Amino acid sequence: MARKESTEAAGTAAKGAAKGPSRPPGQKPGQKIDKRTDKRIDALLTLLAENATIVISGAKIAEEIGVSRQQVWRWIELLRDLGVRVKGHPHTGYHIERVPDILVPQLLSHRLYGTPFARRIHHFFKVDSTNTVAMRLAERGEPHGALVLAEEQTGGRGRAGRSWVSEKSTGIYCTILLRPPIPPAHAPLLTLVAGLAARDAAAEDLDSVPDIRWPNDLLVGGKKFGGILTEMHAEPDRIHYAVVGIGINVNQSKMPAEIAEIATSLKIETRKSHSRLELLVRMLHHFNRYYEQFLASGAQPILRRFAEVSSYFRGKRVRISTHSETFTGTTAGLEASGVLRVARDDGKGTELILSGDVSEAT
Ligand code: BTN
Repeated sequence: MARKESTEAAGTAAKGAAKGPSRPPGQKPGQKIDKRTDKRIDALLTLLAENATIVISGAKIAEEIGVSRQQVWRWIELLRDLGVRVKGHPHTGYHIERVPDILVPQLLSHRLYGTPFARRIHHFFKVDSTNTVAMRLAERGEPHGALVLAEEQTGGRGRAGRSWVSEKSTGIYCTILLRPPIPPAHAPLLTLVAGLAARDAAAEDLDSVPDIRWPNDLLVGGKKFGGILTEMHAEPDRIHYAVVGIGINVNQSKMPAEIAEIATSLKIETRKSHSRLELLVRMLHHFNRYYEQFLASGAQPILRRFAEVSSYFRGKRVRISTHSETFTGTTAGLEASGVLRVARDDGKGTELILSGDVSEAT
């Protein structure tokens, strides 16, 4: 049941997508997606959260949000499945034990006041990839600043065709839709902006200082806890839209065995849980600040900040793997476009790295 509800709940953005060639997972051809479902679950959560100390009857909730009592019960079950501690049952009423850590618009939008992210928040319980949804929305004219958030991704994507493990309600899976007035050649700076924002936000939750491995890996203790995937639709001189996807491992208790050696979460590092909501809000405010700084003053402040917080900026021994070769060298700063300079060990000079895998060379 929870799965069905989750798929239905993906209505806000997926409604339009249903007209296109690809459909969200679980949605059958021609199946109507109820656009209001998300909003009403959002309303249910808000009602419970705002009345945390009192028991509200199922009938009252049903009346307030305009659904049947059975539907209220089904959604309560869905929320429980997502880890929201709702006490009570259909006959007596319900109350919430604490404000849930779910990234629903109603809990977020007032916290994002003053940023472009407050007005268009698309929240999904389950979706293939927030980047994919954001691109579909962008094609349909969604404005700059729209956010796509998911509790779970079934096809989370990472760089270089890798997947991004997106366990339910433990990580942040967020995509920001941008329509930036910059040439495509400067797009790597958007990834740096996002990396800096996520790094600064996570630093407050960590006991040790996080690092950024160019261009987008967020590291703590040498292990990766976050990454950025920027995708765009552009002409040679103009970006139609860019989607900046940010994944942060927050409350995973352990990472899957295949990546446990190289990946971690904030919870694993600090041995305590963290509020995804607070972290996301902080990150989006940082993002807004860095983005505005970038538009107003160009790349230099972003590059200076990157130099301050990334051990990979200069003098780092690295191994670079591009599609054509692998070599070692030493990092030598960034170009104004955000591209990495690496002085090669083999005497062939300094290489400009547009994309590729960077790892620390021993
Ligand atoms: C990487 O380091 O390889 C980039 C990982 C990016 C993951 C995020 S999670 C939200 C957004 N949706 C996706 O499918 N990917 C990005």
